[in-house]
Amino acid sequence: MAKSKTVFVCESCGATQPKWSGQCPDCGAWNTLTETVPAAPSKPGAAAPPVSFGDTTPQVQKLNAITPRETPRTPTGLSELDRVLGGGLVPGSVILIGGDPGIGKSTLLLQVLAQLSADIPALYDTGEESLEQVQLRAQRLGVADADLAVLAETCVERVLALAKPQAPRLLVIDSIQTVFSQALSSAPGSVSQVRESASMLVRFAKATGTALILVGHVTKEGTIAGPRVLEHMVDTVLYFEAEASSRFRVIRAVKNRFGAVNELGVFAMSGAGLKQVTNPSAIFLSRHETAVPGSAVMVTREGSRPMLVEVQALVDESQLSNPRRVALGPDAQRLAMLLAVLHRHGGIPLGDQDVFVNVVGGMRVSETAADLAVLLAALSSFRDKPLGERLIIFGEVGLAGEIRPVPGGEERLAEAAKHGFTRAIVPKANAPKSKRVGELEVVGVARLGDAIEAVT
Ligand code: TYD
Ligand code: MG
Repeated sequence: MAKSKTVFVCESCGATQPKWSGQCPDCGAWNTLTETVPAAPSKPGAAAPPVSFGDTTPQVQKLNAITPRETPRTPTGLSELDRVLGGGLVPGSVILIGGDPGIGKSTLLLQVLAQLSADIPALYDTGEESLEQVQLRAQRLGVADADLAVLAETCVERVLALAKPQAPRLLVIDSIQTVFSQALSSAPGSVSQVRESASMLVRFAKATGTALILVGHVTKEGTIAGPRVLEHMVDTVLYFEAEASSRFRVIRAVKNRFGAVNELGVFAMSGAGLKQVTNPSAIFLSRHETAVPGSAVMVTREGSRPMLVEVQALVDESQLSNPRRVALGPDAQRLAMLLAVLHRHGGIPLGDQDVFVNVVGGMRVSETAADLAVLLAALSSFRDKPLGERLIIFGEVGLAGEIRPVPGGEERLAEAAKHGFTRAIVPKANAPKSKRVGELEVVGVARLGDAIEAVT
């Protein structure tokens, strides 16, 4: 039987196995091996042909004799997108934009392309929609008369053959999971197809200096199919983040060879596409009329921009022998640790309580600077007592109950003062000597006990 010809490719790490097994022997992921027929000329795992940048043959050189060329950047016309890209599109760079289906990837890219096509030749290839659907979307976005080259083609070889004479400076493939290479017999969206198609497109981008944007859908597990394969093939990885019900969309750079990571761009979905939110501080607050129990406002600093974010906690007597700890926004492990610190060093037992923590607006807060706000929000809910009006909190909590300083304290305090907050509880080392920033009174705390006292 032809069975001996097939191999099994891990959907998670891309490794090839001769036999099926429940767990990938290379990366340890479960149920990720899928059967594929390798094509004769380009076996999965075979080394890609060397990428040549233009016509120059590679030479061994001394590092100190190399003068890098200034990286020219093309602004996208959306400053929030330029911010996550590190200042605009770099020629020959490859950007992967990931996110859940329906979050707004195609919308954002069509808006950007329509605007850019006035200045540079751009090509939009869609494998998901017909050209009529793209035109209808363009009408909704008010860019129906854009001078933009569009194509609905899923075969990479044909896309490249059609793209070459157009000499686009920007090529968008929407999405990488829908395109396929004729060299492989496996289905579009499989790891080997995604890898092969992407590597052909990347070679084209590098050889011609075309900026390339690949759209990638995120799987149920929250990763782009063949994530590791794609992530290390590209220069920049951007992810769309949003809460299902929220109209706000956050784009985060998780990898960037041309800029800082963790930089955020904030957009709002409207009837006419995505609008940028250039001053996002206030949108992650729920603006209660008066202070309510379980709510704390913190200043997070994602990338280079301080932002005000509201953390909400609900602490309620549990009916379960194993009380629930649910964290939407902060890390769940971190929450468990913080509750242990609150018990051990604050004397507040929450062992028999369910604890839910949510960050308003679906923001993911990975910084440890959120610790103190999460703890005090939980305490406030437990005591059913508001923390106080116009109060801002940030600081890292250590296992010994100490409150550790966080980077960018001055900027965070300045942002809070700018938005009319009047009291701040922050790590002692982040508090200015004068104990004031404008109208903001700053209380520096060194231990968890001091912080609890400051809100009692
Ligand atoms: P889309 O860009 O198609 O998502 P993706 O490419 O990431 O799968 O986003 C489509 C969603 O956005 C859809 O639910 C409708 C909504 N939408 C608006 O609210 N306003 C608009 O102007 C457009 C074009 C879409
Ligand atoms: Mg789409």
